[in-house]
Amino acid sequence: MKAGEIMKEKNIHLTEKFVRNTLGEDSTGHDWHHIERVRKNALYIAKKEQAGDPFLIEMAALLHDIPDAKLNTSKEAGERKLSDFLQEIEIAEEASSSIKTIIESVSFKGGNNKKVLSVEAKIVQDADRLDAIGAMGIARAFAYGGKKGQPIYDPGLEIRKVMTEDEYRNGKSSSINHFYEKLLKLRDLLNTDTAREMAEARHEIMEQYLHQFFIEWNGQA
Ligand code: ADP
Ligand code: NI
Repeated sequence: MKAGEIMKEKNIHLTEKFVRNTLGEDSTGHDWHHIERVRKNALYIAKKEQAGDPFLIEMAALLHDIPDAKLNTSKEAGERKLSDFLQEIEIAEEASSSIKTIIESVSFKGGNNKKVLSVEAKIVQDADRLDAIGAMGIARAFAYGGKKGQPIYDPGLEIRKVMTEDEYRNGKSSSINHFYEKLLKLRDLLNTDTAREMAEARHEIMEQYLHQFFIEWNGQA
């Protein structure tokens, strides 16, 4: 193996350890297992599409939730945590800055993200979005809702078709509303053909789930 490859492997290993330690206890759906699924999905998409730099993709997938404002005391504190870590490891300045850019452009932000994405950002974003839909997405939505104390469903709450970031984070919702506000839209927001293909079964299970949910909600089961 070339020296550069050994360095990359070492960095992946250090990053994995750092992320495990930092996110380990989170129960809002950003635990280590979420990270591992995003990493796997991202590497799979990259391989299938034969696109992107696998090292940057793996690093960005591993680190993508580290600067998240809701897992830190502030947006700035989160960004600092990511920068400090990248400073600590031996990584080329160019790679470090690409990783930060990929992570910045990945998050959903209520659907109005009009940034031009690099191919690596497109792949990591798809991988993160795939983990928000399907069987996994259903589980995460209710886990998040439970932690926030929001209802499973509340027929009195309107579905917010368009929201600001603040409304998305702090407004009143229910886990079932979240499917209509975000999860059912994600299939059409994917960047790569591979992810679109992977999204089909995931989208379908959500639709089936909602269909059955309302049958049971209305007491017609
Ligand atoms: P990301 O992993 O892209 O940062 P979020 O932080 O928006 O995603 O959400 C984390 C998980 O919690 C996702 O699975 C998302 O669908 C779910 N979630 C976010 N907001 C809500 C909500 N209001 N109700 C139910 N689930 C939510
Ligand atoms: Ni994520």
